[in-house]
Amino acid sequence: MRNKEDIRELFQKDKQAGFDFSQAPDLIRRKEVTAQATDLFGKDDLSKWERAQHGFNHYTKVKSIFSREYVDANFVSFGSFFKERRYLKGNVLDIGGGWGLLRQWWEPSSSDIYIVHDPGVERFLRGVHKVHHDYYERAFSLPMTFVEGFGEELPYKNNVFNTCVIKSTLDHCITPEEVLAEAYRCLQTQGGDIIILQSCDTGEQSHQPHILTRLLKNLRYPKRFLSKIYHWLFYQVGHVQHFSRDDIVTLLEQAGFSKVRVSKVPKTQSIYAFEANK
Ligand SMILES: C[S@@+](CC[C@H](N)C(=O)[O-])C[C@H]1O[C@@H](n2cnc3c(N)ncnc32)[C@H](O)[C@@H]1O
Repeated sequence: MRNKEDIRELFQKDKQAGFDFSQAPDLIRRKEVTAQATDLFGKDDLSKWERAQHGFNHYTKVKSIFSREYVDANFVSFGSFFKERRYLKGNVLDIGGGWGLLRQWWEPSSSDIYIVHDPGVERFLRGVHKVHHDYYERAFSLPMTFVEGFGEELPYKNNVFNTCVIKSTLDHCITPEEVLAEAYRCLQTQGGDIIILQSCDTGEQSHQPHILTRLLKNLRYPKRFLSKIYHWLFYQVGHVQHFSRDDIVTLLEQAGFSKVRVSKVPKTQSIYAFEANK
């Protein structure tokens, strides 16, 4: 289906030397991760991101975070969303895609490529919990390439992906506007589209989700909620950004995307889908 050379072909020539392709097509690692991070972000922003990422990493090891009810509810909601809109097609770039679970709703042809571009290589290598295998069997049967790196600086050529998907990730990024500018550049000019799936506040320009929205969301999964409180207290787990729906629409338009459509992901408290075209 895909081989090392097909994947290397997607990379800009001058960026290839910064990556280790020895484990491609499954895994492509950054050669100098620290150098890239200090080039991209200021010192304070970087340490804020590192704290959040460290906490997030620890938090996702905990089994109770992924209770069967929680995974089941997510599976049903995103499954309904992709069935209603249509499955992902063509070459897909999943920024911050983690374990690549969205392949569950990808219908590739024989030459299509699915790239997860994410700095969280440790979490990826640790792998999923058993419950994910029970639900996402189709996802794990489809190939993907994990590329280690930040969404703020993509190594790919212009106009190479059919779809870019960004799920629950923009709030982990220091400079979301750069992530979207990079996604725009790498998407095909003819028919390239982006899907952002993001929990956000419905209020105008609010930068903290409404307290009631957060409580309702969390009370559905009490064990997960308790674990979140623990991680918040001991690891300062938190998002580096909070968005309202309007914020995301503005970010997309500022990056150059057009025809922004907003819909609610079925059966979720506050997760919205933002779809737009290049
Ligand atoms: C909540 S997880 C979402 C994972 C996946 N999209 C999903 O929904 O299953 C957030 C992901 O964002 C990644 N991430 C953090 N900072 C990032 C950045 N600057 N660029 C791209 N991904 C980033 C994390 O490593 C993590 O895998």
